[in-house]
Amino acid sequence: MNLHKTLKKLIDEPEELVPWRDGVQIPWDDPEFSKRMLEIHLDQSTNAASRSIDVIEQHTNWLLEQCLLRLGKNENLRILDVSCGPGLYLFPLAEKGHDCVGFDFAPAPIEWAKAEAAKRNLDCAFHKMDLTKLTAEDLKTLGEFDVITFWFGEIHTFEPETTKTFLKQLSSLLKPNGLFILEYQHYDLYPKEDLQEWQPCDESVLYDKPHLWLRQYRWDDELQAEIAVHWVIDSETGESKRYAQSSRAYQDQELVDLLFEAGLSGAVLTPPITGVDEQYEFSMVVTQK
Ligand SMILES: C[S@@+](CC[C@H](N)C(=O)[O-])C[C@H]1O[C@@H](n2cnc3c(N)ncnc32)[C@H](O)[C@@H]1O
Repeated sequence: MNLHKTLKKLIDEPEELVPWRDGVQIPWDDPEFSKRMLEIHLDQSTNAASRSIDVIEQHTNWLLEQCLLRLGKNENLRILDVSCGPGLYLFPLAEKGHDCVGFDFAPAPIEWAKAEAAKRNLDCAFHKMDLTKLTAEDLKTLGEFDVITFWFGEIHTFEPETTKTFLKQLSSLLKPNGLFILEYQHYDLYPKEDLQEWQPCDESVLYDKPHLWLRQYRWDDELQAEIAVHWVIDSETGESKRYAQSSRAYQDQELVDLLFEAGLSGAVLTPPITGVDEQYEFSMVVTQK
């Protein structure tokens, strides 16, 4: 019966998937899904969701080098990490004496981050906030920063107009000359082709029981965006879940212009810091207010 329903839903999928119309993001903020994702964030055998601790350490060391280079100091900084997940980038920075703040809208990772900071007695504040719905009150709560980081290319998942709005809000939180450091997926890394594949899995990042994983990718040339639809079908019950994620590809100059429009200039683009994993580590752009 459930398999029947699943097959019907699959047949009902639009033939031409359209980015954002047919799915925006995986449901990071769904309480149950966020518990599954927390396991993936903390799993040291994969760089999905969050990198392993040694890669994060190299990223934060690089970040502090950028601060020295561009701000002339790398001590006592007030640092905000946007969409911080379980806060793994902030703990090594707080250990070095920086005043750290992170926000994310996924409940399980943020609760874990708060508990971990308290356990380790670290100067880190975590807030459950939605980047696309930041209010004046949220901005006041966050305060002013020397540095804002936005790791892992999550910026691509939002529609360009939404991105413009939150970039301006984030820029308003920077002190004069403050750094905005963004990790982005280079335009050339998008395959820009349509693809469909089935994979039997014992477990995957999306589901912890045996399942069939159907992935459909579609590139939309007009929107310069990709949509990925994931169907996870339980091998025993035939029950399914559909996840989708859209992603806007930016040419380098387009990204530089987008940041400039938000008051962030002097962009320097660099290749991935460690080169550990092309699928899960992207290029960086450093800008300044
Ligand atoms: C790939 S994970 C990266 C997490 C963290 N930056 C890291 O590198 O460890 C993407 C994160 O973006 C968060 N996120 C996505 N959309 C968001 C939104 N609208 N507001 C706040 N956080 C969001 C997700 O909850 C998730 O924790």
